[in-house]
Amino acid sequence: MRMSDYHIGFMGFGHMAQVIFSALDRAKIIPRSQVLFLRRDRAKMKENEQKFGITATGLPNLVEKSDLIFLCMRPQQAETALLELKGMGNLEGKKLITIIAGKPIAFYQKHLGQEIQMVRAMPNIASSVMEGMTILTYGPGVSSEFKSITHLLFSSLGQIAEVKEDLCDRTTAMAGSGPGFVFCLIEAMARFGEQGGLSYQEALKMAAQVFAGASQLILKGQMPTDLIAQIATPNGITQTGLDVMAKHEMEKQFHLVLEAAMRKSREFQK
Ligand SMILES: NC(=O)c1ccc[n+]([C@@H]2O[C@H](COP(=O)([O-])OP(=O)(O)OC[C@H]3O[C@@H](n4cnc5c(N)ncnc54)[C@H](OP(=O)(O)O)[C@@H]3O)[C@@H](O)[C@H]2O)c1
Repeated sequence: MRMSDYHIGFMGFGHMAQVIFSALDRAKIIPRSQVLFLRRDRAKMKENEQKFGITATGLPNLVEKSDLIFLCMRPQQAETALLELKGMGNLEGKKLITIIAGKPIAFYQKHLGQEIQMVRAMPNIASSVMEGMTILTYGPGVSSEFKSITHLLFSSLGQIAEVKEDLCDRTTAMAGSGPGFVFCLIEAMARFGEQGGLSYQEALKMAAQVFAGASQLILKGQMPTDLIAQIATPNGITQTGLDVMAKHEMEKQFHLVLEAAMRKSREFQK
């Protein structure tokens, strides 16, 4: 079956599902007429129908019509949603992609049966500008067709990487939550500029471009340590700042942030 023949259903249509749908729509991966969605809030369903030009429906119809179902609720809402899904009866032949943080494949198998074909995906917010980083983990028995469809779908959101499931909590902290940590650093740099008299907008743009430019050098193949060596001359300005970073163990501090996020993801496993 070709991607363009698929019918897709979003169970849960909050922030991240909307980002994913918008990216797929922009890339013209799938006609809007082949997309259904469902959320609990009826008023928001109507609003979203108008805004996105796709049809809201009930769960029985969504399950019946969709070849591929995206599960897009919060971890705390997952169990109820899976019980509802199970209540729809036979899911044979349905493909599932879950973006729910923390929940392992075994959790879905427990509720929906061992044979369910599913992919665990962790996209991030930068998918909304096609600069996302999506981490993919395949459940057992995922067909090569399902794998290539998953690649195609998430490639329209940015970059993809595959990891084994034991790395999911770590990569969720890095790639799923990571933008949040980077936003904080950009904000901190911008506030520094503002304190010296730049307008907040000027300072924010400057800081964001510094992060974007530095990232581009690394994405084009240069190593952070080589780049640091290039710009940090002994007793120079950059080196003075780097010395303060070392003194305050910034790497260790940043790892504390990532470890806390990873632990939180692990807590959702149950
Ligand atoms: N936001 C991110 O940056 C990001 C990144 C990667 C992964 N994720 C993961 O994506 C998931 C969703 O996050 P989000 O930020 O999009 O959350 P969100 O905005 O709260 O969206 C959750 C959606 O799920 C719906 N929902 C909950 N229970 C449902 C049920 N039983 N049946 C149908 N719909 C149901 C909610 O409907 P109502 O609002 O109508 O009640 C809402 O539309 C989370 O598991 C999160 O870990 C998020």
